[in-house]
Amino acid sequence: MIGVISCKKALCLARPWPQFRGAMTEDKPMIFPWPGQEGLALRLQASLSGEAGRFEWRRFPDGESYLRILSELKDRTAILCASLDRPDDKLAPLLWWAATARELGAKKLVLVAPYLAYLRQDARFQEGEGVTSRYFAKLLSTHFDALLTVDPHLHRYRTLDEIYTIPSRVLTAAPEIAIWVRGEIERPVFLGPDAESDQWVSRVAALSGAPYAVAEKRRLGDRQVELRLPQVEAWSGFTPVLVDDIISTGVTMLETLRQLKAAGWPAPVCVGVHAIFAGRAYEDLSAAGAAAIVTCNTVPHPSNRIDISESLSTALSEIL
Ligand code: R5P
Repeated sequence: MIGVISCKKALCLARPWPQFRGAMTEDKPMIFPWPGQEGLALRLQASLSGEAGRFEWRRFPDGESYLRILSELKDRTAILCASLDRPDDKLAPLLWWAATARELGAKKLVLVAPYLAYLRQDARFQEGEGVTSRYFAKLLSTHFDALLTVDPHLHRYRTLDEIYTIPSRVLTAAPEIAIWVRGEIERPVFLGPDAESDQWVSRVAALSGAPYAVAEKRRLGDRQVELRLPQVEAWSGFTPVLVDDIISTGVTMLETLRQLKAAGWPAPVCVGVHAIFAGRAYEDLSAAGAAAIVTCNTVPHPSNRIDISESLSTALSEIL
Protein backbone atom coordinates (compact mmCIF):
# COMPACT_ATOMS: atom_id res chain seq x y z
CA MET A 1 0.00 0.00 0.00
CA ILE A 2 1.38 3.36 -1.01
CA GLY A 3 1.26 6.04 1.68
CA VAL A 4 2.49 9.57 2.34
CA ILE A 5 5.84 9.64 4.06
CA SER A 6 7.65 12.44 5.78
CA CYS A 7 11.25 12.83 6.88
CA LYS A 8 13.96 15.43 7.58
CA LYS A 9 16.51 15.75 4.86
CA ALA A 10 19.57 17.38 3.47
CA LEU A 11 19.68 20.97 2.37
CA CYS A 12 22.05 22.66 0.04
CA LEU A 13 22.85 26.29 0.55
CA ALA A 14 23.18 28.25 -2.66
CA ARG A 15 24.08 31.66 -1.20
CA PRO A 16 24.70 32.86 2.38
CA TRP A 17 21.31 33.26 4.00
CA PRO A 18 20.50 36.57 5.71
CA GLN A 19 19.81 36.26 9.41
CA PHE A 20 16.28 37.48 10.01
CA ARG A 21 17.11 38.15 13.65
CA GLY A 22 14.29 38.17 16.09
CA ALA A 23 11.76 36.86 13.59
CA MET A 24 10.79 34.03 15.95
CA THR A 25 10.99 36.04 19.17
CA GLU A 26 9.66 39.48 18.25
CA ASP A 27 7.08 38.19 15.84
CA LYS A 28 5.85 34.91 14.57
CA PRO A 29 6.22 34.46 10.83
CA MET A 30 2.99 34.90 8.99
CA ILE A 31 2.34 32.24 6.37
CA PHE A 32 0.12 32.99 3.40
CA PRO A 33 -1.01 30.09 1.24
CA TRP A 34 -1.58 30.71 -2.43
CA PRO A 35 -5.17 29.65 -3.21
CA GLY A 36 -5.22 25.86 -3.59
CA GLN A 37 -1.95 25.40 -1.70
CA GLU A 38 -3.32 25.52 1.83
CA GLY A 39 -2.19 21.95 2.66
CA LEU A 40 1.54 22.57 2.55
CA ALA A 41 1.19 26.06 4.06
CA LEU A 42 -0.71 24.63 7.03
CA ARG A 43 2.00 22.06 7.67
CA LEU A 44 4.67 24.77 7.57
CA GLN A 45 2.61 26.99 9.83
CA ALA A 46 2.18 24.20 12.38
CA SER A 47 5.82 23.21 12.50
CA LEU A 48 7.04 26.83 12.64
CA SER A 49 4.41 27.89 15.18
CA GLY A 50 3.58 30.58 12.66
CA GLU A 51 0.41 32.55 12.14
CA ALA A 52 -1.99 32.13 9.26
CA GLY A 53 -1.92 35.08 6.90
CA ARG A 54 -5.05 35.94 4.92
CA PHE A 55 -5.51 37.67 1.63
CA GLU A 56 -8.18 37.96 -0.97
CA TRP A 57 -7.52 37.59 -4.65
CA ARG A 58 -10.08 37.54 -7.38
CA ARG A 59 -10.35 38.49 -11.00
CA PHE A 60 -12.38 41.42 -12.21
CA PRO A 61 -14.65 40.62 -15.15
CA ASP A 62 -12.01 42.07 -17.50
CA GLY A 63 -9.37 39.63 -16.23
CA GLU A 64 -7.39 42.04 -14.05
CA SER A 65 -6.57 40.99 -10.48
CA TYR A 66 -8.09 42.41 -7.32
CA LEU A 67 -5.87 41.85 -4.31
CA ARG A 68 -6.31 42.70 -0.65
CA ILE A 69 -4.18 41.57 2.28
CA LEU A 70 -6.37 41.06 5.34
CA SER A 71 -3.65 40.43 7.96
CA GLU A 72 -1.68 43.12 9.82
CA LEU A 73 1.81 42.97 8.34
CA LYS A 74 3.65 45.93 9.86
CA ASP A 75 7.19 44.82 10.78
CA ARG A 76 6.29 41.18 10.25
CA THR A 77 8.07 38.46 8.32
CA ALA A 78 5.68 37.22 5.67
CA ILE A 79 6.09 33.88 3.94
CA LEU A 80 4.15 33.27 0.74
CA CYS A 81 3.74 29.57 -0.01
CA ALA A 82 3.12 29.42 -3.74
CA SER A 83 4.23 26.66 -6.04
CA LEU A 84 4.80 28.18 -9.46
CA ASP A 85 3.25 25.66 -11.81
CA ARG A 86 1.06 27.43 -14.42
CA PRO A 87 3.16 30.52 -13.74
CA ASP A 88 1.62 32.84 -16.32
CA ASP A 89 -1.69 32.72 -14.44
CA LYS A 90 0.03 33.48 -11.14
CA LEU A 91 2.83 35.87 -11.88
CA ALA A 92 1.00 39.21 -11.96
CA PRO A 93 -1.10 38.63 -8.80
CA LEU A 94 1.96 37.19 -7.03
CA LEU A 95 3.89 40.39 -7.72
CA TRP A 96 0.90 42.51 -6.65
CA TRP A 97 0.79 40.50 -3.41
CA ALA A 98 4.47 41.25 -2.74
CA ALA A 99 4.14 44.94 -3.61
CA THR A 100 1.10 45.27 -1.35
CA ALA A 101 2.77 43.40 1.53
CA ARG A 102 5.79 45.67 1.22
CA GLU A 103 3.66 48.82 1.28
CA LEU A 104 1.81 47.52 4.33
CA GLY A 105 5.11 47.41 6.19
CA ALA A 106 6.23 43.76 6.06
CA LYS A 107 9.91 43.68 6.96
CA LYS A 108 10.84 40.49 5.05
CA LEU A 109 9.11 38.69 2.23
CA VAL A 110 10.06 35.07 1.76
CA LEU A 111 8.79 33.13 -1.23
CA VAL A 112 8.44 29.39 -0.69
CA ALA A 113 8.02 28.07 -4.22
CA PRO A 114 8.44 24.28 -3.99
CA TYR A 115 8.24 24.24 -7.78
CA LEU A 116 10.11 27.07 -9.44
CA ALA A 117 9.00 27.71 -13.00
CA TYR A 118 10.76 29.18 -16.03
CA LEU A 119 14.06 27.39 -15.74
CA ARG A 120 14.02 25.38 -18.94
CA GLN A 121 14.45 28.36 -21.27
CA ASP A 122 17.98 28.88 -19.98
CA ALA A 123 19.61 29.85 -23.25
CA ARG A 124 18.81 31.52 -26.56
CA PHE A 125 18.45 28.39 -28.67
CA GLN A 126 17.33 30.30 -31.75
CA GLU A 127 17.93 33.84 -32.86
CA GLY A 128 15.34 36.21 -31.40
CA GLU A 129 14.20 34.03 -28.48
CA GLY A 130 13.78 35.48 -25.00
CA VAL A 131 15.82 33.89 -22.22
CA THR A 132 12.74 33.91 -20.01
CA SER A 133 14.42 32.19 -17.05
CA ARG A 134 16.44 35.39 -16.54
CA TYR A 135 13.47 37.74 -16.86
CA PHE A 136 11.40 35.66 -14.46
CA ALA A 137 14.27 35.55 -11.94
CA LYS A 138 14.68 39.31 -12.18
CA LEU A 139 11.00 39.95 -11.43
CA LEU A 140 10.94 37.63 -8.40
CA SER A 141 14.25 39.01 -7.13
CA THR A 142 12.87 42.54 -7.29
CA HIS A 143 9.77 41.75 -5.23
CA PHE A 144 10.94 39.17 -2.65
CA ASP A 145 13.83 39.09 -0.18
CA ALA A 146 14.53 35.37 -0.21
CA LEU A 147 13.52 32.20 -2.00
CA LEU A 148 13.18 28.58 -0.91
CA THR A 149 12.60 25.88 -3.51
CA VAL A 150 12.95 22.16 -4.24
CA ASP A 151 14.91 20.59 -7.09
CA PRO A 152 14.88 23.50 -9.52
CA HIS A 153 15.57 22.47 -13.10
CA LEU A 154 19.21 23.56 -13.26
CA HIS A 155 20.76 22.51 -16.52
CA ARG A 156 22.94 25.19 -18.08
CA TYR A 157 22.89 27.27 -14.88
CA ARG A 158 24.98 25.75 -12.14
CA THR A 159 23.13 27.52 -9.33
CA LEU A 160 20.17 29.87 -8.98
CA ASP A 161 22.63 32.61 -8.04
CA GLU A 162 23.48 32.97 -11.70
CA ILE A 163 20.08 34.53 -12.32
CA TYR A 164 18.52 35.30 -8.90
CA THR A 165 19.94 38.26 -7.01
CA ILE A 166 18.18 37.37 -3.73
CA PRO A 167 19.47 34.59 -1.46
CA SER A 168 17.99 31.25 -2.38
CA ARG A 169 18.00 27.96 -0.59
CA VAL A 170 17.60 24.81 -2.63
CA LEU A 171 16.38 21.51 -1.21
CA THR A 172 16.40 18.17 -2.95
CA ALA A 173 13.63 15.62 -2.63
CA ALA A 174 16.08 12.77 -3.35
CA PRO A 175 16.21 11.55 0.29
CA GLU A 176 12.43 11.48 0.59
CA ILE A 177 12.10 9.68 -2.75
CA ALA A 178 14.73 7.13 -1.71
CA ILE A 179 12.89 6.43 1.55
CA TRP A 180 9.62 5.98 -0.31
CA VAL A 181 11.19 3.58 -2.80
CA ARG A 182 12.93 1.59 -0.06
CA GLY A 183 9.62 1.17 1.73
CA GLU A 184 7.53 0.30 -1.31
CA ILE A 185 9.59 -1.42 -4.00
CA GLU A 186 11.59 -4.59 -3.89
CA ARG A 187 14.80 -4.73 -5.91
CA PRO A 188 14.46 -1.38 -7.67
CA VAL A 189 16.64 -0.36 -10.58
CA PHE A 190 16.50 3.35 -11.31
CA LEU A 191 16.32 4.79 -14.77
CA GLY A 192 16.71 8.43 -15.71
CA PRO A 193 15.26 9.37 -19.11
CA ASP A 194 18.01 11.79 -20.12
CA ALA A 195 21.39 13.22 -19.19
CA GLU A 196 19.76 16.05 -17.21
CA SER A 197 17.99 13.55 -14.97
CA ASP A 198 21.34 12.07 -13.92
CA GLN A 199 21.60 14.59 -11.06
CA TRP A 200 18.34 13.32 -9.51
CA VAL A 201 18.45 9.65 -10.37
CA SER A 202 22.07 9.14 -9.28
CA ARG A 203 21.34 10.68 -5.86
CA VAL A 204 18.18 8.65 -5.32
CA ALA A 205 19.96 5.45 -6.39
CA ALA A 206 22.92 6.09 -4.09
CA LEU A 207 20.61 6.74 -1.14
CA SER A 208 18.64 3.59 -1.95
CA GLY A 209 21.73 1.43 -2.46
CA ALA A 210 20.36 0.38 -5.87
CA PRO A 211 21.76 0.43 -9.42
CA TYR A 212 20.85 3.08 -11.95
CA ALA A 213 21.28 3.99 -15.58
CA VAL A 214 20.41 6.92 -17.74
CA ALA A 215 18.86 6.89 -21.23
CA GLU A 216 19.67 9.24 -24.08
CA LYS A 217 16.94 11.64 -25.08
CA ARG A 218 16.55 14.16 -27.85
CA ARG A 219 13.56 16.49 -27.75
CA LEU A 220 12.09 16.98 -31.20
CA GLY A 221 9.19 19.19 -30.13
CA ASP A 222 6.96 20.08 -27.19
CA ARG A 223 5.28 16.67 -27.36
CA GLN A 224 7.83 14.56 -29.16
CA VAL A 225 11.03 12.95 -27.92
CA GLU A 226 13.45 10.41 -29.31
CA LEU A 227 14.93 8.07 -26.73
CA ARG A 228 17.53 5.31 -26.56
CA LEU A 229 17.54 3.00 -23.54
CA PRO A 230 20.86 2.08 -21.96
CA GLN A 231 22.02 -1.55 -21.94
CA VAL A 232 20.36 -2.90 -18.80
CA GLU A 233 20.01 -6.66 -19.48
CA ALA A 234 22.03 -7.43 -16.37
CA TRP A 235 19.16 -6.20 -14.23
CA SER A 236 16.46 -8.68 -15.08
CA GLY A 237 14.48 -9.48 -11.93
CA PHE A 238 14.59 -5.84 -10.83
CA THR A 239 11.63 -3.43 -10.85
CA PRO A 240 12.31 -0.42 -13.06
CA VAL A 241 11.73 2.94 -11.39
CA LEU A 242 11.76 5.96 -13.70
CA VAL A 243 12.87 9.13 -11.94
CA ASP A 244 12.65 12.63 -13.38
CA ASP A 245 12.33 16.11 -11.94
CA ILE A 246 9.32 17.29 -13.96
CA ILE A 247 6.49 15.34 -15.56
CA SER A 248 4.98 17.90 -17.90
CA THR A 249 3.45 16.58 -21.14
CA GLY A 250 4.49 13.13 -19.92
CA VAL A 251 6.01 12.20 -23.30
CA THR A 252 9.43 11.58 -21.75
CA MET A 253 8.01 9.06 -19.28
CA LEU A 254 5.62 7.61 -21.90
CA GLU A 255 8.38 6.94 -24.41
CA THR A 256 10.63 5.40 -21.75
CA LEU A 257 7.78 3.22 -20.55
CA ARG A 258 6.93 2.17 -24.12
CA GLN A 259 10.51 1.11 -24.84
CA LEU A 260 10.87 -0.74 -21.54
CA LYS A 261 7.71 -2.68 -22.28
CA ALA A 262 8.91 -3.47 -25.81
CA ALA A 263 12.17 -4.74 -24.32
CA GLY A 264 10.21 -7.11 -22.05
CA TRP A 265 10.57 -5.25 -18.78
CA PRO A 266 7.81 -5.27 -16.18
CA ALA A 267 5.66 -2.14 -15.89
CA PRO A 268 7.77 0.62 -14.35
CA VAL A 269 6.97 2.83 -11.39
CA CYS A 270 7.11 6.47 -12.56
CA VAL A 271 8.42 8.93 -9.99
CA GLY A 272 8.48 12.66 -10.65
CA VAL A 273 9.41 15.40 -8.23
CA HIS A 274 7.06 17.99 -9.72
CA ALA A 275 3.57 16.93 -10.86
CA ILE A 276 2.96 19.41 -13.66
CA PHE A 277 0.92 17.00 -15.84
CA ALA A 278 -0.05 19.29 -18.70
CA GLY A 279 -3.35 18.43 -20.38
CA ARG A 280 -4.09 14.69 -20.19
CA ALA A 281 -0.54 13.67 -19.28
CA TYR A 282 -1.55 11.90 -16.06
CA GLU A 283 -4.40 9.98 -17.72
CA ASP A 284 -2.18 9.03 -20.67
CA LEU A 285 0.58 7.77 -18.41
CA SER A 286 -1.88 5.75 -16.33
CA ALA A 287 -3.46 4.29 -19.50
CA ALA A 288 -0.02 3.37 -20.87
CA GLY A 289 0.39 0.90 -18.02
CA ALA A 290 2.65 2.52 -15.42
CA ALA A 291 2.69 0.32 -12.32
CA ALA A 292 2.29 3.49 -10.23
CA ILE A 293 2.71 7.22 -10.75
CA VAL A 294 4.13 8.91 -7.72
CA THR A 295 5.11 12.53 -7.12
CA CYS A 296 6.23 14.78 -4.30
CA ASN A 297 3.83 17.37 -2.89
CA THR A 298 5.70 20.29 -4.45
CA VAL A 299 2.73 20.79 -6.80
CA PRO A 300 -0.65 19.73 -5.41
CA HIS A 301 -1.90 16.68 -7.38
CA PRO A 302 -3.68 13.37 -6.66
CA SER A 303 -0.39 11.52 -7.39
CA ASN A 304 1.36 13.23 -4.44
CA ARG A 305 2.66 10.44 -2.17
CA ILE A 306 5.95 11.86 -0.95
CA ASP A 307 5.82 14.66 1.58
CA ILE A 308 8.62 17.24 1.55
CA SER A 309 7.04 19.60 4.09
CA GLU A 310 9.34 18.59 6.92
CA SER A 311 12.44 19.46 4.92
CA LEU A 312 10.87 22.78 3.94
CA SER A 313 9.96 23.69 7.51
CA THR A 314 13.40 22.66 8.78
CA ALA A 315 14.97 24.94 6.20
CA LEU A 316 12.60 27.78 7.06
CA SER A 317 13.13 27.44 10.80
CA GLU A 318 16.88 27.60 10.27
CA ILE A 319 16.65 30.85 8.37
CA LEU A 320 14.05 32.68 10.42
C1 R5P B 1 13.88 17.67 -19.16
O1 R5P B 1 14.35 18.69 -19.49
C2 R5P B 1 13.23 17.42 -17.84
O2 R5P B 1 14.13 16.87 -16.94
C3 R5P B 1 12.06 16.50 -18.02
O3 R5P B 1 12.51 15.30 -18.60
C4 R5P B 1 11.03 17.11 -18.88
O4 R5P B 1 10.68 18.36 -18.38
C5 R5P B 1 9.80 16.27 -19.00
O5 R5P B 1 8.90 16.90 -19.85
P1 R5P B 1 7.77 16.11 -20.56
O6 R5P B 1 6.94 15.44 -19.51
O7 R5P B 1 7.00 17.18 -21.30
O8 R5P B 1 8.40 15.14 -21.50
